[in-house]
Amino acid sequence: LLLMSAIATPADFPPPDKLPSAAEFPDVLTARDGTKVTTRKEWEEKRRPELKALFEHYMYGRFPEKPKQVTAKVLFEDAKALDGKGTLREVELTFGPPEWPKIYLLVATPNDKTPAACFVGPNFGGNHLLTPHEKVRVPTAWVPANYPGVEKGTNKATAAGRGKQADTWPLRQVVEKGYAVATFYCGDVQPDRPNVREGMRATLPPAEGGAPGDETATVMWWAWGCHRAVDFLVTDKAIDPKRLAVVGHSRLGKTALLAGAFDDRIAVVIPHQSGCGGAGPSRSKNPKAEPVKRITTVFPHWFCGHFSAFGDDTTKLPFDQHGLIAICAPRPVLLTNAEDDQWANPPGQFDMLAAAAPVYKLYGDDRPVAAKVPEQGKLSDERLGYFIRAGKHAMTPDDWKVYVQFADKWLR
Ligand code: GCU
Repeated sequence: LLLMSAIATPADFPPPDKLPSAAEFPDVLTARDGTKVTTRKEWEEKRRPELKALFEHYMYGRFPEKPKQVTAKVLFEDAKALDGKGTLREVELTFGPPEWPKIYLLVATPNDKTPAACFVGPNFGGNHLLTPHEKVRVPTAWVPANYPGVEKGTNKATAAGRGKQADTWPLRQVVEKGYAVATFYCGDVQPDRPNVREGMRATLPPAEGGAPGDETATVMWWAWGCHRAVDFLVTDKAIDPKRLAVVGHSRLGKTALLAGAFDDRIAVVIPHQSGCGGAGPSRSKNPKAEPVKRITTVFPHWFCGHFSAFGDDTTKLPFDQHGLIAICAPRPVLLTNAEDDQWANPPGQFDMLAAAAPVYKLYGDDRPVAAKVPEQGKLSDERLGYFIRAGKHAMTPDDWKVYVQFADKWLR
């Protein structure tokens, strides 16, 4: 029985109103039983698993098991795509049970540099938005109405959207820098809407008694999709399995951070403008930033049922988002932001890096984060990196230059 005390069990998760309050960010190195973690061994064996279990239970829902089988089929391959600089492929990933959704991974690899380091992550509206290439599949799953080429009233993507958001994942630009890129439509894994049992959510038994509690939520499913993409990438000859960076924007930035935290095969983690529920603190002091109450009301499906209970009182949360960053240690994490996007809480995100630093120090990095927020447009390329540019909420070719700059340092 004594042996069990180090492992979190469901009985360790009291309802939110029974949890102690803490106005400050809970110390990453203090375990729930009050003991102070001082070694890497204690961190890895006790506190890190404890934090992961807490994030699963109270925020993102259960971490889904790896499927027994992941099968990849190349749907097309074009070595002349990207003006001859790179090869474009689309790879269909299937997972055994025929009713499970498939993932279509768009993979761009440099022709002159293999195996290449690779950026991997989900996209918002379909691979076909990212390139005019005619062979790229148009999604058949539900897509949000406001994306280019989506048929009015039906939420169906059409070929009219081809290439219309090529700037968000600038394949050629990144391939020219010697990196591969792999991306998939997030909605193939889990469509971005509440109250519908579709996508991977439909593979779970129906929730009993109404309240989904710690049922795997949408952001966790999207992270699961990243992990399945990684399953393929680590087997691909054109990719270096040790040099994978996960990237995502906004709700998919929240996803990138969670995906990095829960999969050690990912070497670098880049949540872009991820905000509340990502790298932004739940205990926010920024009046312009999105609060937990708002996010759990407007986007209830992103998080598990338990998280909504913290909307009125985030001091009850047994962690804050620096815990998720700390789980990534000692792997580099870069938080990228924009000045006009206070909704994503850029200053609060910097606080999260600073609060995660003690764990990175355990791994021997004495100065893992800059002493203060770097000036606008200047990358702070510490292991816990930070960047803020002028402008608004968007993922742009200039942002990709910064991801590449950071990768040039940490994935060489
Ligand atoms: C909304 C939401 C944010 C989210 C963003 C996005 O603004 O409130 O939390 O990050 O959408 O995904 O673009």
